Amino acid sequence: MEKKDIIKKYNQKIKILKKHNKLYFSNDKPQISDSEYDKIKKEILNLEKKYKFLKKNNLVGSPPSNKFTKVKHLVPMLSLSNAFDHQDMGDFLKKINNYLKFENKKIELFSEPKIDGISASLIYKNGSLIKGLSRGDGSIGEDILENLKTINNIPQKILANDVPNILEIRCEVYIGKKDFESIKDNFSNPRNAAGGSLRQKNPQETAKIPLKYFAYGFGLIEPMIFKTQSEFLEKICNWNFITNPLSKITKNFSEIETQHKKIDQLRSSLDYDIDGVVYKVNDLDLQKRLGNTSNSPRWAIAYKFSAEKAITKIKDIIIQVGRTGAITPVAKVEPVTVGGVVVSNATLHNEEEIQRKDIRVGDTINIQRAGDVIPQVVSVDKSKRDKNSKKFKFPTKCLCGSETKKEISKSTKKLDAVSRCTKGYACEYIAKEKLKHLVSKEALNIDGLGKKVIDQFWKLNLIREPSDIFKIDYNKLNDLEGWGELSIKNLKKSVNNSRKISFDRFIFSIGIRHFGQENAKILASFFTSINKLKNFINSNNKKEILNNLIQLDGIGDTQIISMNNFFLNETNKRITLDLINELRITDYKSKTVSGLLANKKIMFTGGFSNMSRSEIKFIAENNGGKVLGSISKKLDYLIVGNSKPTKRKIDQARSLNIKILSEEDWKKILNN
Ligand code: IVH
Repeated sequence: MEKKDIIKKYNQKIKILKKHNKLYFSNDKPQISDSEYDKIKKEILNLEKKYKFLKKNNLVGSPPSNKFTKVKHLVPMLSLSNAFDHQDMGDFLKKINNYLKFENKKIELFSEPKIDGISASLIYKNGSLIKGLSRGDGSIGEDILENLKTINNIPQKILANDVPNILEIRCEVYIGKKDFESIKDNFSNPRNAAGGSLRQKNPQETAKIPLKYFAYGFGLIEPMIFKTQSEFLEKICNWNFITNPLSKITKNFSEIETQHKKIDQLRSSLDYDIDGVVYKVNDLDLQKRLGNTSNSPRWAIAYKFSAEKAITKIKDIIIQVGRTGAITPVAKVEPVTVGGVVVSNATLHNEEEIQRKDIRVGDTINIQRAGDVIPQVVSVDKSKRDKNSKKFKFPTKCLCGSETKKEISKSTKKLDAVSRCTKGYACEYIAKEKLKHLVSKEALNIDGLGKKVIDQFWKLNLIREPSDIFKIDYNKLNDLEGWGELSIKNLKKSVNNSRKISFDRFIFSIGIRHFGQENAKILASFFTSINKLKNFINSNNKKEILNNLIQLDGIGDTQIISMNNFFLNETNKRITLDLINELRITDYKSKTVSGLLANKKIMFTGGFSNMSRSEIKFIAENNGGKVLGSISKKLDYLIVGNSKPTKRKIDQARSLNIKILSEEDWKKILNN
């Protein structure tokens, strides 16, 4: 073989290997097996050995692996809610003040740069590192201890005599910007590189990549010895953990803004990527009182850096149909880089927004992108507008051809800004979106069956309805572009694993409008088991059953009407029952059935001193109680707060012989 042919052959193999590195590391979607991967790598190494004139490639990476043991987190690893501007941050401060009923008392916040890396959990027993987990889905992580041990400066033993018996440190693993330069050919960005490297099967491969970390928080600590976040970080820094030197206590709104600006200015000079500043209530007792919502703590927020902007041109305006039938106009724009990401779509929200800003096809626009939020149009440069341009006419029909409708908002009694297609599963666009919701992380959580795959399978007629997911003809995938033996095997496995699902997750998965994760839990606690929900679906007196729902705190008319409409639709009914047949749905387990108020049904009226209604509810539920929203025979206690209780409710409770407790009685019960 001639020299040039050898070089050509070598480069082809390098290209193939890079493709598979990307599929594995960046996309987390390997297409070939470990041995196939090894074979290509070996061929490359052999060529390099034999022909010294070849310019060697620095090939980072090892065979893909799905072999990490899954481990349940001692305390879930949640995400953070975001603030994008001064107002969002102000709202956050107001919310925590309201929740704690502090009436604008200054709450000390601890600020830390938000590192854009991969989170991990390190568990120490009596000072020795015994477990290291990836975040996973937040409740179950992967055992990546051996890989984490390769990171310099992660202490494997804490040499101090005041270390709690159990100490769980949460940290963010990253690759320094300079270090990334030498490996960047194999990865799309430092974050993917860190993720790929941490999930290597072989820790020796992890060790080749210069990973670093910052410790930022804790999971379980027993006994708890800290009073504040700042004290915690100071202490673990003394125990040789790496903490971020730019962290700082901020005492008021103006200090928050100053710190935010300061870190933003430093951003480009830092050797690690950051995308905002995290503000945390410093006092750990207050953190405990504030607690969490389903996905994020109430006591912290990620204040993102301001949105990056760019100028581009609108090529076209199209509409997209969401799973609830909402029609969203989208501007197709000339591709432009905004904050390092190429953008070719921007949301236009709704008809009103287009009219208000008079947005037209052909317009030159300023767009912005903040965090993971879909890019938006900030303004139109009308001076650059073509004389012949015409106002955009908002379509009155859905992509499926049926007429759209606007609803009358229940609260404002005005026509909604959003038009909707009301065809449900009969509209193929809605159906596809419903399927995408169904397989998403918070629902059935089917790995390998993402949005693109749903589109692909829909085109091939492999999936039309939820239950089809469990009847996929895998033989049809064999010759398909993007599918290999391994990816088919993995898909089969994750589809099968998704059959076992908790009742509340199932309710969330079927996507009834106005039933997000929180309301799905409330509904699950009402029906308790899938059989009872099935009886409801098949019953002829749905309205009567649904009327009992109004008792539940959090459920109102909007949810009841939505639930009724959903199951009055015969297609929804059949599709839901078909799906149920494919699943093993476990009964709803309320969080604490032990506790002082175990299984007691409680209702509150009137305000309490020093405690907001949200906090009272949180405490009641944490003690096993169930908070109802209206008086009924089922109620065990009516708790009457000192500030403006409703007399009618007290009278009603009296007439039904329900035990009435004062604010003081209630506090006494809980303090005993
Ligand atoms: S505190 C309950 N502090 O951001 C979650 N997170 O979006 C508390 N992160 O999973 C997280 N730097 O991976 C916190 N200084 C910091 C952080 C930080 C980066 C990551 C972390 C977390 C994610 C939440």
